[in-house]
Amino acid sequence: MAYDFDTAVDRHGTSSVKWDYEEKYTGMTGLLPLWVADMDFPAPPEIMDAIRRRVEHGIFGYVREPDSYFQAAAAWLERRHAWPVHREWMVASPGVLPGLAAAILAFTQPGEGIVIQPPVYHPFAMRVRSNGRRVVENPLVIRDGTWQMDLDGLEKVIDQGTRMLVLCSPHNPVARVWDRATLSRLEKICRTRGVLIVSDEIHNDLVMPGFRHLPIAALSEESALNTVTLVAATKTFNIAGLGGSLTVIPDSDLRARFEAVQHALFSGAPNAVAVSASEAAWRLGEPWLEELLVYIKGNYDLLKRFLAERLPSVRVFPLQGTYLALLDMSGIGLADAPLRDRLLRDARVWMDEGPKFGRGGEGMQRLNLACPRSVLAEALGRMERALGRITA
Ligand SMILES: Cc1ncc(COP(=O)(O)O)c(C=O)c1O
Repeated sequence: MAYDFDTAVDRHGTSSVKWDYEEKYTGMTGLLPLWVADMDFPAPPEIMDAIRRRVEHGIFGYVREPDSYFQAAAAWLERRHAWPVHREWMVASPGVLPGLAAAILAFTQPGEGIVIQPPVYHPFAMRVRSNGRRVVENPLVIRDGTWQMDLDGLEKVIDQGTRMLVLCSPHNPVARVWDRATLSRLEKICRTRGVLIVSDEIHNDLVMPGFRHLPIAALSEESALNTVTLVAATKTFNIAGLGGSLTVIPDSDLRARFEAVQHALFSGAPNAVAVSASEAAWRLGEPWLEELLVYIKGNYDLLKRFLAERLPSVRVFPLQGTYLALLDMSGIGLADAPLRDRLLRDARVWMDEGPKFGRGGEGMQRLNLACPRSVLAEALGRMERALGRITA
């Protein structure tokens, strides 16, 4: 490998949410954090060079995203996802969640329904509720050991006041890359029932070998016109602390309404360093990304093998996309609170609790695989020592 994913870098003292706030969030110390979705790998050297050049310039006055920024993003989306995106469809946003919040404000009214499909990235429900809209749940189901959308259920939950569906594609935390048949049916149901799709595709580049991400807006022109897509380089290249995203809106009327909200909130102003970092990522990041995906898959294989041999009561779902593996720990026979306690207190391993992601997350834990293999091995050893005592 040309890039180093094995060296563990000490992140303490960098104000890292993952590493510096354990006592505040858990009341404990000495935990190995495998929660929140950022990586313990430095950003690619190609991005670091761009950031260094920008920082060495020394002046950080107001900036705008240059045309080259949008061109780099469009070339990336076409090359990696076969999705031709016109320049005028792209609106710069401060991040995917701010983009989602602006879409909620632009396209729904207080009290209207917004569909989410739990277990799903928990800030979706938080953004819907904190903006005074109604969460409409269409839970995923497990069939043949994989998570599926319940599209018959979707037809039933959409009511008169339902205006929007927030799609998570690939889906965090169940690690699914949605196939064409599922997306086509979902798209048709939403379009014919007057439900706008807001597709969070921040994990679009993090797709395991053998799978392919399909942007729902790329299915057809009709689909494009009923979709708002949220993308960013930040998750892919571990630069989320810099911020920045793109909101892709092919329909000009919807785009104007979205831009009016961002204008009202004054929330579009970019971060000077982030602009350089994301453009470098889209232009130069591909070789690093290819190696990253192989490394993550290697970590997943280690996890799967370890669980099969040493902790067979813990099941892991297939990893199709994201670097977040969902563990089904219900076989251990503990309820969620004692399970969390056992993991934190005895194993000293800190993952995201399944119930946080809503219905269907009970008995589950989400493990972040984007760490050096030695760190993962240490976490698994700790879990075996703590949980083996229960299952023995
Ligand atoms: C599905 C999903 N959407 C959005 C985000 C956050 O995006 P941003 O930092 O651009 O707001 C995350 C981060 O984990 C995520 O997993």
